[in-house]
Amino acid sequence: MTEYLSLIETKLQEFLPSTDCTEKVLIESMAYSLKAGGKRVRPCLALEFCKACGAEPQKALPFACGVEMIHTYSLIHDDLPDMDNDDMRRGRPSNHIVYGAATAIIAGDALQSLAFETVLSEEAEKLCGSAACVKAARTLAGYCGALGMCGGQMIDIMYEEKKAGIEILREMDEKKTAALIKAACEMGCIAAGADDHKLHCARVYGDNIGLAFQIVDDILDVLSTEKELGKPVGSDKENDKSTYVSLLGIERCKEIAEQATEKAVEALEGFDGNTDALKEFAYSLLNRTN
Ligand code: IPE
Ligand code: IPE
Ligand code: MG
Ligand code: MG
Ligand code: MG
Repeated sequence: MTEYLSLIETKLQEFLPSTDCTEKVLIESMAYSLKAGGKRVRPCLALEFCKACGAEPQKALPFACGVEMIHTYSLIHDDLPDMDNDDMRRGRPSNHIVYGAATAIIAGDALQSLAFETVLSEEAEKLCGSAACVKAARTLAGYCGALGMCGGQMIDIMYEEKKAGIEILREMDEKKTAALIKAACEMGCIAAGADDHKLHCARVYGDNIGLAFQIVDDILDVLSTEKELGKPVGSDKENDKSTYVSLLGIERCKEIAEQATEKAVEALEGFDGNTDALKEFAYSLLNRTN
């Protein structure tokens, strides 16, 4: 899937507004975070699911960019002083460290709007048709809103300095992290015009790799280094966050992440196309070091 990375970088750049405006600094701040690298897990998933459904992966490119814009906005806001208060992201100073909190908040807001402009763009319409664009936008809106990523971020904040049980943690991770990953997987299928059964299988895959992804993120926050991750370590402990790791410890968490990854891989049976890359990807996310 690494062949997708340059396609994604080029397209993200194309969808950014020109800096030829009074609020130039806003566009620069959006570009600063959007172009800072990052693993591009979600856009890669969108392209590969489109392929698994038998279509050209490029068809899903605007949808893939839309999900990455929402994800980047979520990271900018996640790092703010009133949220996790983290000063490094993607190997460089966090957006608010460079531009200040006010600009960082507005950049996040504007990236959210840009995500929907992108999913509903003429380019997307030409590639996938207007019905698929509407369905993709509806899917993304649901997964990033009050009962999706934002809801998960709220639960995360509500349970700072409190002990959440396993059910709350599952719900929190499903919403704050798996939701956008599911959005990416499903939007890839939507770009390909896939049926409901494939969409369901993509959802099960995304839900399970999403849970594993957040658990691994929580483990890395304990075991890794800032240099490796490109963001601070020990942030969860510092903020007294409730996580799978704080409740169950590292070893049990590794087992749960492995089980979830197996479930994700099983869900790939619902596709007729070649899903080897998606299978390998699930395992590589489990064993990732950043
Ligand atoms: C970090 O996401 C936030 C979580 C949901 C755990 P990523 O680990 O995908 O961050 P980037 O995009 O690579 O920077
Ligand atoms: C963040 O979870 C999830 C979202 C940004 C929606 P974390 O707060 O654990 O992510 P990192 O560790 O800062 O990347
Ligand atoms: Mg957070
Ligand atoms: Mg954080
Ligand atoms: Mg984290």
